[in-house]
Amino acid sequence: MRHIMAKSLAPTDGVRDYLAAQEKKSLLRFLTCGSVDDGKSTLIGRLLSDTKQIFEDQLAALERDSRKHGTTGDDIDFALLVDGLEAEREQGITIDVAYRFFATPKRKFIVADTPGHEQYTRNMATGASTADLAIVLIDARQGVLPQTRRHSIIASLLGIRHIVLAVNKIDLVGFDQAVFERITEAYGQFSRDLGFQTIVPIPMSARYGDNVTSRSDSMAWYSGPTLIEHLETVSVEEAVVELPFRFPVQYVNRPNLDFRGFAGTIASGSVAQGDEVVVAKSGKSSRVKRIVSYGGDLARAAAGQAITLVLDDEVEISRGNMLVSPAARPQVADQFAANIVWFDEHALLPGRSYILRTETDQTSATVTDLKYRINVNDFAHEAAKSLDMNEVGICNISTRTPIAFDTFAENRTTGAFILIDRISNATVGAGMILHSLRRAENIHWQSLDVGKRVRADMKNQRPAVFWFTGLSGSGKSTIANLFEKKLFATGRHTYILDGDNVRHGLNRDLGFTDADRVENIRRVAEVARLMADAGLIVIVSFISPFSAERRMARELMADGEFIEVFVDTPFEECARRDPKGLYARALNGEIKNFTGVDSPYEAPEKPEIHLKTLGKSAEQMVDALEHWLNERDIAEDQYDNGGGI
Ligand code: ADX
Repeated sequence: MRHIMAKSLAPTDGVRDYLAAQEKKSLLRFLTCGSVDDGKSTLIGRLLSDTKQIFEDQLAALERDSRKHGTTGDDIDFALLVDGLEAEREQGITIDVAYRFFATPKRKFIVADTPGHEQYTRNMATGASTADLAIVLIDARQGVLPQTRRHSIIASLLGIRHIVLAVNKIDLVGFDQAVFERITEAYGQFSRDLGFQTIVPIPMSARYGDNVTSRSDSMAWYSGPTLIEHLETVSVEEAVVELPFRFPVQYVNRPNLDFRGFAGTIASGSVAQGDEVVVAKSGKSSRVKRIVSYGGDLARAAAGQAITLVLDDEVEISRGNMLVSPAARPQVADQFAANIVWFDEHALLPGRSYILRTETDQTSATVTDLKYRINVNDFAHEAAKSLDMNEVGICNISTRTPIAFDTFAENRTTGAFILIDRISNATVGAGMILHSLRRAENIHWQSLDVGKRVRADMKNQRPAVFWFTGLSGSGKSTIANLFEKKLFATGRHTYILDGDNVRHGLNRDLGFTDADRVENIRRVAEVARLMADAGLIVIVSFISPFSAERRMARELMADGEFIEVFVDTPFEECARRDPKGLYARALNGEIKNFTGVDSPYEAPEKPEIHLKTLGKSAEQMVDALEHWLNERDIAEDQYDNGGGI
């Protein structure tokens, strides 16, 4: 069977008819979780093969349909069944999760198959973010394990309200009722505060099929449903249609001058022709003129449907914004508290800039305060400076631009986000918004009359931030010092921010762990920005070993203002010079986390200026810098004068 990926079911015409014909057949999305070797694959395999017969009947019907309406020729187009995948594929978060489709006469199912050991939590969280129910698999011989608890907590965080406690391999404990009851009791105790609406324990043997699709002869003491009976009948109706209208705009559809529509999938609630709608971020309102769908105009549309809205007025809405109900608006803020599940082997570092992506919006974000980590065994709140892979924590987040959202408790779609690493582009975390921070509402930008331009003009110069990066002992401070002297002599207004010096004052509370270095650079970048705003030429001389923070600093400055200067001296040469005697001590193991020894240095890939210092004098380096600065200023003068001199 081909793997398919699903998010929400929004079938197109042909299949809609087909599905409509399958009266009362709802869709249940679920995932399985538990520990390694708990029999997950066996269970999925059993479900797929036992229901295959039934499925094949349907397949024949689908095949006919597909040929009529599909785009894949004679192949079955499972994509006709599902929708809303593009965003996820773009985000690269579905790569490891295969969604398998199967059906019985009563219901259709999509099971998120989340393989992998290392990255299991990440895959699991990805699957859980769209699932209605989780099967928590337990090996009857092992009972409730830390992994069981971890995955249950993540499932709960991601909004799953229905659990099947599959006590598997019951044959290996002699179909013992006491074992089953002990496990059921332990899990019930543990999960009391996780907010699950139903927990249905089922003793089973996935391998032999007992209580999976057919009742077991070996467990007369069990009178509950088989797994498939329960999956077919459990009610998971989440009243998303009852929630306030939320329409994240995926793109603006403007095929010609006469048509302008906003395309997307309704995340919650419903909308009718003539309804008033509001642009979440700007508060501008308009009315719905048309609801365009694949099959023609609609009078009304509801959650899960992919539509294009045409409004009465020409309101400004770009991708990333939401159209919402005027009566119940989402919050718009750039600071909020959230629950984070971390997936990446590189720890979450407060102060580091990540890309935050919501259903449609995207902006830069940093964790400003990691309040605590949650111990998944006893829910204890533990102090933490970073979050390691598979850890869960509560933190405050600050975004570069405000986003529109609901709390996750109110809305699973508009209250969730993912975090993406800026360098590797990998999804590194998932977040659920708890509430906005009141302080964000109370702090506003103050507009000032004397601006950057006049401050710089008065100094007769253009602001710049020369960002020196390189190993300790590479010559950064020496070159910076000489460079400043030369600039000063030609009447420029300058300032040097030097790592060793700043660490005596502003950053005296910081050491050399990754987390502290990130914060070190964040603060210095902010200070450099203020100095550039004051009209100065700033020379920053910090090891700044991580590409991510150098990029963050670059993005803080105005276009063309950030000049990355790679002071490139090989490690061996720095260690040989060893001006402060630090290399000798680090190589002896007396200093921990020393850059180039046991802490990494990520060399710049495309610095504006690459200074290869070996065999050159500091004067030669400074000449290169001065030359660069003069060229820039001449180029900008030409630009200002319309190209002439
Ligand atoms: S950064 O990595 O956070 O950018 P920064 O430039 O502020 O480093 O500080 C580096 C200076 O601190 C070095 O030049 C050296 O004198 C001193 N230092 C002390 N311990 C270390 C260490 N473990 N790693 C690197 N530099 C250290």
